[in-house]
Order: sequence, then C-alpha cells, then structure tokens
Amino acid sequence: MSSNTPQDVPSDEELAQMSRDDLVKLGNKLDGVELVEYPDPWPVKGTRAEKRAERAVALWFLIAALAGFAFIGVFLFWPHAYVAPNTDGYFMYSLFTPMLGATLGLSILGVGVGALLYMKKFVPHEVAVQQRNDSGSSELDKATILAELADAGDRTTIARRSLIKRSAGLGAGAMGLGIGVFAIGGLVRDPWAQTESKDSLWHTGWKHEKPGEKVFLRRATGHAHEVSLVRPEDLSAGAMETVFPFRESEREDHHALSKALKRSDNPVMLIRLRSEDGRKVVKHQGQEDFNYGDYYAYTKICSHLGCPTSLYEDATNRILCPCHQSQFDALAYGKPIFGPATRKLAQLPIAVDEETGYFIARSDFIEPVGPAFWERKS
Ligand code: FES
Repeated sequence: MSSNTPQDVPSDEELAQMSRDDLVKLGNKLDGVELVEYPDPWPVKGTRAEKRAERAVALWFLIAALAGFAFIGVFLFWPHAYVAPNTDGYFMYSLFTPMLGATLGLSILGVGVGALLYMKKFVPHEVAVQQRNDSGSSELDKATILAELADAGDRTTIARRSLIKRSAGLGAGAMGLGIGVFAIGGLVRDPWAQTESKDSLWHTGWKHEKPGEKVFLRRATGHAHEVSLVRPEDLSAGAMETVFPFRESEREDHHALSKALKRSDNPVMLIRLRSEDGRKVVKHQGQEDFNYGDYYAYTKICSHLGCPTSLYEDATNRILCPCHQSQFDALAYGKPIFGPATRKLAQLPIAVDEETGYFIARSDFIEPVGPAFWERKS
C-alpha cells in the first residue's frame, strides 16, 4: 500500500512541468528511497583512465565479434569430412570440433567479459535504502520509475559511448549470427541434390558404383584396416553378425576402409535363422529373393529415430531397439510388432559370390534406411 501523503503528490499540471531530474527525486521520495551514495564513476570527463576503460570494454566486444566470425568460418569452411588417422589431412580434420568449441566459447566469453567490465567501470554503484510496498503501481509511480530508469541509463553514459555501443553490437551480433548459423546450417541440406550419389539421403555405402562391382559383407574386427569377410559357414543357426560394405578396390585404401565402418547408414545385421524358423518366414512383396537360404540382412538403423537396433533375440526371432523398445520381426521382413516404430527395417538383398564363397550385397537397399524425413513418401 502506498504511503504517499497528499502534499507529496504533485497535481497533473505540476507533473507535466517537471524535468527528469525532478521526477527522479520525486520518485525516490515517494518510494521512500534514500540515496545514500550515487557517485559518478567518472566525475572528470575525458580523462585518459576513462578512455582506457572504454577501450578495454570495446576490445572484449571486438574479440567476441572476431571469434564469432571465426566460428562461422570454421563451421562453413573447415575440413570436416572424416579422415582416417595417419593419413594426410587428419590433423586438420581432428581440429574441427575443438575449433568450433574454442571460437564459440571465446565469442560468448568476450560478450560476457565486455558486459561485466562495462557494468563495473561505467554504471554508477549507488547505495540506496528503500521501504517495501505491497501494492500495485500508480500512474505517478510508473512515470517516476520510467524517469529513474532513463536517468540511470544516462548516468551509465552509454548514449555518448559510441565505441562501446558499436563494438557491443558487433560482438553480440557476430555471436548471435554464429549461433544462428550453427542451429540452421545443419538443416540446410537438399535431399534431392545428387539423388543417385551414394552420399545422398536416398542411398547408403552399399550402393554399387559401377555395374558388376562386388560389394562384400565385412565384419568389424576392432582394427579399421583389417578386412575380414563373411561366409555362410561363419554363422551358426540363430546367430547374428554386424557387417559393413567392402570393395576389393578399397583393400589398400585406409581412408575408405575406416569410412565404411563409420558411415551411420552402413551397419547391417546378418542373421542366420534356424531351419525350422526359416520355414515360417513371410516375405515382403518385391523382396522375395533378398535372402540367401536362411540368411537375412536387415539394416541396423531403427526406422523410428535411427538408433542402432543391436539386439537380436534368437528364441523369438525379434530384433529389439534399445532406445524406445521397438521390436521387429525377423521372420516377417523386419516389420514392427511393438513400440513406436511404424516402418519395417530395410532389407539388404544378399547372395554368395560363386568365385570366393563370401557374402555379397546384390544391390543397395531399395528404400532409404532409418527415420522418416519430409521428402520421403513411404
Ligand atoms: S529409435 Fe528405435 S525405437 Fe526409437
């Protein structure tokens, strides 16, 4: 409740005539605020110390701006495509993430330190004592508080410090721009571009790049450059093995060998059903010959949100995704039978190479693997 006495309160005409200083004083008085100290941080204007302080603030904002632009540059132009260890370009590639963190961190730090320094050096540190009120604000209170805020703003001298204003705008702007590019940049990818390339959203590393090319099924041994191919007799009934694409042309290419293991849509589960289960299989139209006997190959990428569906329960022939507990039926073309996934797991058409006896992929998947995206129709 306001404790203003009638003699404290000016008439509407008097209020309209009052200067901002008068309003500040009146506001303090009406609010029961006693300004014990209200020192001007720079009573003598234009001193060298004041200019030095101003330049220090501006310097931090400029650091923020430069770091913000550097972040955008790193995000857009730094080599970020995977490079295998011990090959040319690995050092630069390995710096991509640290550089993103360092430049964005420095930009945020610059804005923060600049703002703190400005508050410390230019905002008056008043000491005031105020009685608490518990009612809403009257028009009079609103007018006086606005005057007080404007006055406080003036006393920080920001209005006449164009160097600080410009550098702060530049620093905060560059930092904001960097964060915007970071947030939106990853979404700007045209899924229709290079539709036939194996690097598009429509294909995986299993895509045959030339007619007649053999793409073998390779297991991961823990050593990226070691090639271990899979034959039918390697799997016992009820077993599952995770496999990746391999081409003879890549045998000595360490970069390609590592990349094949790392590409997110490459992992495939090769499952050998028990013979009695194999007889119960229901095939999807158009995929009748995708299996090789009791061997079935399904993408490991969950059709819900793309987690690896790493769990195969041979007793029930279910493939489980640990993320949100979707389950897929390995006896029925990987169709979802439980959980949030609504699409089947893509099936890789496989065969055995007559020449070598190893498994090969007869083609890429006939549909995109993993979760849905806007342009996907199925
Ligand atoms: S990602 Fe597999 S169930 Fe959600």
